[in-house]
Amino acid sequence: MFSKHYPLFGRLVTGLLTLAATASFADTGVLKDAYRDDFYIGVAINRTIAIGPTRPGFYLRRTADQVDKDIALVKEQFNQISPENDLKWSLIQPRPGADGYDFGPADAYVNFGLSNHMYIVGHTLVWHQQTPGWVFAGADPATRATRDELLQRMHDHIASVVGRYKGQVKVWDVVNEAVADNGTNLLRNSPWLQIIGPDFIDKAFEFAHEADPDAILRYNDYGLESSGKRHKLIALIQSLRQRGVPVMAIGTQTHVSVSAPSFEAEDETLTDLETLGLPIHITELDVNGARSGQNDTGADVANNSGATQGGMIDGANRRLANEYAALFRAFVKHKKSVKVVTFWGVNDAVSWRAGGRPLLFDADDKPKPAFDAVMAAAKP
Ligand code: XIL
Repeated sequence: MFSKHYPLFGRLVTGLLTLAATASFADTGVLKDAYRDDFYIGVAINRTIAIGPTRPGFYLRRTADQVDKDIALVKEQFNQISPENDLKWSLIQPRPGADGYDFGPADAYVNFGLSNHMYIVGHTLVWHQQTPGWVFAGADPATRATRDELLQRMHDHIASVVGRYKGQVKVWDVVNEAVADNGTNLLRNSPWLQIIGPDFIDKAFEFAHEADPDAILRYNDYGLESSGKRHKLIALIQSLRQRGVPVMAIGTQTHVSVSAPSFEAEDETLTDLETLGLPIHITELDVNGARSGQNDTGADVANNSGATQGGMIDGANRRLANEYAALFRAFVKHKKSVKVVTFWGVNDAVSWRAGGRPLLFDADDKPKPAFDAVMAAAKP
């Protein structure tokens, strides 16, 4: 009422409320808001973040106070989450059969996303890593499972896991890292390929589609910045689509380095992937290899940034900021197809790249110059 007659006053109140809600970032900004019209801004969270600092043993290298700050940062900055580990086979179904599931941590992950109104991704159903040995073993452990046995286990696993979170987990990494890195073979020589054959990929997508017909089913892989692997992936996805396999999105992990890809190279990567006509998700973003003391002669995108109050920044931070700027310029250029951008961890302290500093926030959850570079790339 009041604001109807005094629109300026209404806007002021809304503005103050927004400011209060984001008080800790009022000076630096909020990633998910800066990119709201472009794509989801997501983060991989670990069990400590999903459950909170109430359970000793899950703290990793964080104190309870630090965990609280990490959680606050996740809620402030991100509108999408991916599970760093807890939905992988060895964690969610460590033992065979219907009794072999451990859904507790996965439930906590999904509940975290639901209660914070986040877009929830599931990662990952079929992978050659973090999969228990029994999955590939025969009845006599000295032998291997038959094709039918392994397909049955795959079916039951996917039906149980996808079925449990039907309608809640919106996107699934159905098959992870199946393309071969080197040589002329299209597919990695994994137990899945050896025991089932190349149609293990078809089956995984069919089972997932059966379990949740509304979920977006993603094929996820790394190293797609290199044109050899990228073209293998394109060939694989084209053949799956020709056979009617329900692959609905391409996940490109994007674990990259400070020195590559350039804006042009990432632009080319995304242009090639777009030929598939599917949404592209940047699924596991981090930028590795920045060492302090390194000098950088490249464009000075990070100087005068908010995080440094216009002061000097070291070479490692500058290189990191420059690489993030290049990547986000490319993501924004391709925003018609790029739907999700997920950082693989919330800050440097919890990153899987121990000792590296590959993310936008430091161990104290303070934004680094790379954060300002990403914010600046949102307004071309
Ligand atoms: C990593 C996690 O970050 C680590 O905590 C874990 O020890 C190993 O896996 N590609 C993927 C992710 O698809 O699941 C991996 O995550 C990183 C590489």
